Amino acid sequence: MKSYAAFLMVSYVVFLSMGSVTMQTCSPTSPCTPLKGGQAFREPRQVKATTSAPLIYTMTVGIADFTVDWLTVKRRLYDGEFPGPTFTLKPGDKFNLNLINSLLRPDITGPENTFRYPNTTNIHTHGLHISSKSPQDDVLIEIGPGESFQYEYEINARQPVGTYWYHPHFHGSVHFQSMGGMAGLIIVEDDPATMSTELASVSCPGNCEHDVQILLQTFQYSPEERSGHSFLQREMHDDKSFRLNSVILTDSSN
Ligand SMILES: *[C@@H]1O[C@H](CO)[C@@H](O)[C@H](O)[C@H]1NC(C)=O
Repeated sequence: MKSYAAFLMVSYVVFLSMGSVTMQTCSPTSPCTPLKGGQAFREPRQVKATTSAPLIYTMTVGIADFTVDWLTVKRRLYDGEFPGPTFTLKPGDKFNLNLINSLLRPDITGPENTFRYPNTTNIHTHGLHISSKSPQDDVLIEIGPGESFQYEYEINARQPVGTYWYHPHFHGSVHFQSMGGMAGLIIVEDDPATMSTELASVSCPGNCEHDVQILLQTFQYSPEERSGHSFLQREMHDDKSFRLNSVILTDSSN
């Protein structure tokens, strides 16, 4: 089984012939392979409480365009962005996250432990010392198409600082939605009072200009939906209009 990954790099192709210069036009019907990317590096959007009050945020799951190089595909994303926003918190904080699922019916079911429910979601955090019971990090919460859920996280006062992350965790669509781009960072910030001067002078929260937030993810499509995201789209019975059967990215693994 072959898989094809494209990485984000600058790209354009110039053809020289008979003394004339022509820029090749790349499109889904006339693909240029390998895909090379080309967008400027973009940090995630930052979401942070301005006071010590709970951080309150509403995040929406929906379909959005995701572009690599000349190829634009439809993905399920948080607030239409890849990656989703970064939430910055402190030990002992409360965080109220209202997660709205704006995806539509029909959703697709199937036997237990198969890829299913492309349009049902929930959210799971990694690294936070919080309860696994609703309305905190209960991975059995089911947010169907058109529904929403209000998470109310109470972060332990002894929560270690660090860079953590979140992603969907509804059994059946975890992999499909996460690998499709639904993921983001959670930062539990240092208390400057407990940091050495040296560390404080080169890092957040006082000197954030030295911090760069990077999330890496493969971008995989394949002909005949044999592997990568295209394979998952087929297994999930994803909407036909979001699929790329007609695009042959023969060299994208380069
Ligand atoms: C999921 O939701 C989208 C719109 O958000 C819709 O186009 C699609 O048909 C729905 N169902 C599936 C199986 O993709």
